[in-house]
Parts: sequence; structure tokens; C-alpha cells
Amino acid sequence: MEILITTLSVLGLLATAILIGTRGRPQRLFSQGAESLGRIWDNRGPLFWVMACVLLALGFLFYFYASPATRIGAAQPIPFSHQLHAGVKAIDCRFCHSYVARSIHPGLPPVEKCLYCHKYIIANHPEILKEHNYFNTDTPTPWVKVFYVPEHVMFNHQRHIRKEIACESCHGEVKQTERLKGKRFKMGFCIQCHREKKANLDCWLACHN
Ligand code: HEC
Ligand code: HEC
Ligand code: HEC
Ligand code: HEC
Repeated sequence: MEILITTLSVLGLLATAILIGTRGRPQRLFSQGAESLGRIWDNRGPLFWVMACVLLALGFLFYFYASPATRIGAAQPIPFSHQLHAGVKAIDCRFCHSYVARSIHPGLPPVEKCLYCHKYIIANHPEILKEHNYFNTDTPTPWVKVFYVPEHVMFNHQRHIRKEIACESCHGEVKQTERLKGKRFKMGFCIQCHREKKANLDCWLACHN
């Protein structure tokens, strides 16, 4: 969806630029455009290459960092905001992810956790009504999972949290994020910290099965 919106708005801007540039007669672009492009190409000096590189670099930067499609995390069934709950309201991570230090999988909170507050707070908000609906029909909220390690990797939260490694060092600034954006953990990321903290580096024994 975000990709579609981005593409449409870029195309719209482009069309506007062409209309302004050709003073409302886009067909001029084809007759004179080819000619002037040819002229620019024939006279290409250092400035041309500098401009080309800058444009290319800007394009890549936009693509990787700024484009809305890459900045916003997965859409969730209920627009739950970590920024609001963990940040502004300062609810502890472990209130919702209770098993994080006790089991291998921290787990996502069951809807009862949400209703603990939302039975009273904004109980008639349309998004909260959805929660009541999940609760009444006994349906687990279909949260979209965003953090992955590949199948064959063993990852255990418990051991890391016991060493007081902050959630943020792996999950990023959760408290400032509206919609969590996933991340595919690469091995280099695990290895780098294991090297710094002198943790196990024996990949096959420790992390792969
Ligand atoms: C050393 C890195 C690291 C730290 C520190 C860490 N996590 Fe994770 N977390 C991961 C990885 C890797 C995954 C994906 C693992 C998987 O899919 O089994 C994950 C997955 C999760 C999930 C989704 C799990 C599920 O059951 O679907 C939650 C929730 C989570 N972490 C919460 C936390 C919280 C809360 C903290 C801090 C108390 C924390 N994590 C600290 C690396 C870390
Ligand atoms: C400890 C209390 C607490 C818990 C637990 C809690 N919330 Fe909230 N939530 C709040 C507060 C406080 C607000 C802000 C209410 C307001 O705007 O007046 C809020 C607001 C919201 C909103 C509305 C945001 C908006 O844009 O107006 C949604 C949606 C929401 N919470 C979903 C959830 C979900 C889903 C869960 C369970 C995973 C959950 N909450 C658990 C306290 C809680
Ligand atoms: C009020 C409940 C609540 C609190 C507090 C909370 N979370 Fe969550 N968390 C959720 C819910 C609901 C989801 C699933 C929806 C989503 O991804 O936004 C989730 C998802 C996550 C995930 C993504 C798991 C995955 O793979 O999809 C991580 C990581 C995570 N939380 C970390 C944290 C950290 C770190 C904190 C504390 C700074 C925290 N959470 C505080 C309710 C909460
Ligand atoms: C920020 C630092 C940090 C990151 C990132 C990190 N680890 Fe660790 N890891 C540690 C530390 C410290 C220990 C040692 C814990 C102990 O001694 O109990 C550890 C221990 C482990 C163990 C247990 C090793 C043993 O001795 O049996 C496994 C398995 C593991 N990590 C897997 C991973 C994987 C997989 C990733 C990447 C997704 C990862 N770790 C990312 C710091 C990190």
C-alpha cells in the first residue's frame, strides 16, 4: 500500500514537473528533449558527472532511508503503538512480554493484557472494540511477527537478558517507534557482539543446529 502511494505521488510530481517545464505542451519534450539531452551528453564535463553521482546517491539514500515504504513497519490488526505505551505511558516491556526472561520465546501479549487497562480506558474506542471482539470470540489477535532469525538458528532471550543486555541493543528504539519495523538478523550482528563481550563464538555448537 505505502509503495503504491509513493509511486503514485512520485509519478504525479514528475508529470507536474514535465507540464511546467514544457509550458503545458508535453509533446515538446519529445521533439526538443531528445535534442537537448543529446547536447548535454555531447558536452558532458566534470559537472555532469558530479551531478549524475549526486543524483544517484540521493536516489539510493531516499530508497533505503526516507521512502515511507521502508520507514514504516508492518501494519498490525490493531494499530498498537509502542511509542505511546512503552514511551509516553512508560509501561514496562515485561508487563506485556512477560516471558522474556523466563522462556526462549518472550511471546506477544494475549488480549487479556490489553483489556486489563482498556476495559476502563477509552473502552469505546473503535480499535478497542476490536479487542473486545477478539476476547469475546476467543480469537488470538493475529499480530504480524516482524523479527526473525533463520530457521536453523537457536536464539535464547533468557541468556542475553541475564547478562543485562538492553532490549534496544537488538530491537532498536522501541519506545520511540509507532509501528515496529522488522529486521532480519544477520549472523555478523550476533558475532560482533559475541566477540566484544567474549561470549561463545563456536557457531555450530552454540547457535546453529
Ligand atoms: C541479543 C539480542 C536481543 C535482545 C537483547 C532482546 N531480543 Fe527480543 N528478539 C531477538 C531475536 C533474534 C528475536 C527473533 C527470535 C525468534 O524469532 O525466535 C527476538 C524476538 C522478540 C520478540 C518476538 C518473540 C515471539 O515470541 O514472537 C519479542 C516480543 C521480543 N523479542 C522482546 C524483547 C524484549 C522485551 C527484550 C528486552 C527485555 C528483548 N526482546 C531483548 C533478539 C533480542
Ligand atoms: C497499562 C495500561 C495499558 C495496557 C496494558 C494497554 N494500553 Fe493501550 N492505552 C493505554 C493508555 C493510557 C492509552 C491512551 C488513552 C488515551 O488516549 O486517552 C492507550 C491507548 C491505546 C490505543 C489508542 C491509540 C490512539 O491512537 O488513540 C490503542 C489502539 C491501544 N491503546 C491498544 C492497546 C493494545 C492492543 C493493548 C494490548 C497489547 C494495549 N493497548 C494495552 C494504556 C494501556
Ligand atoms: C502494552 C503492551 C506492550 C508493552 C508495554 C510493550 N510491548 Fe512490545 N509488543 C506488544 C504487542 C501487542 C506487540 C505485537 C504488535 C506489534 O508488533 O506492534 C509487540 C511486539 C513487540 C516486538 C516485535 C515482536 C515481533 O517479532 O513481532 C518487540 C521486539 C517488542 N514488542 C519489544 C518491546 C520492548 C523492547 C518493549 C519495552 C520498551 C515493549 N515491547 C513494550 C505489546 C507491548
Ligand atoms: C549485544 C550483545 C549480543 C548480541 C547482539 C547477541 N548476543 Fe548472544 N550472547 C551474548 C552474551 C553476553 C552471551 C553470554 C551469555 C551467558 O554467558 O550466559 C550470549 C550467549 C548466547 C548463546 C548461548 C551460548 C552458549 O554459551 O551456549 C547463544 C546461543 C547466543 N548468544 C545466540 C545469539 C544469536 C543467534 C544472536 C543474533 C541473533 C546473538 N546471540 C546476539 C551477547 C549478545
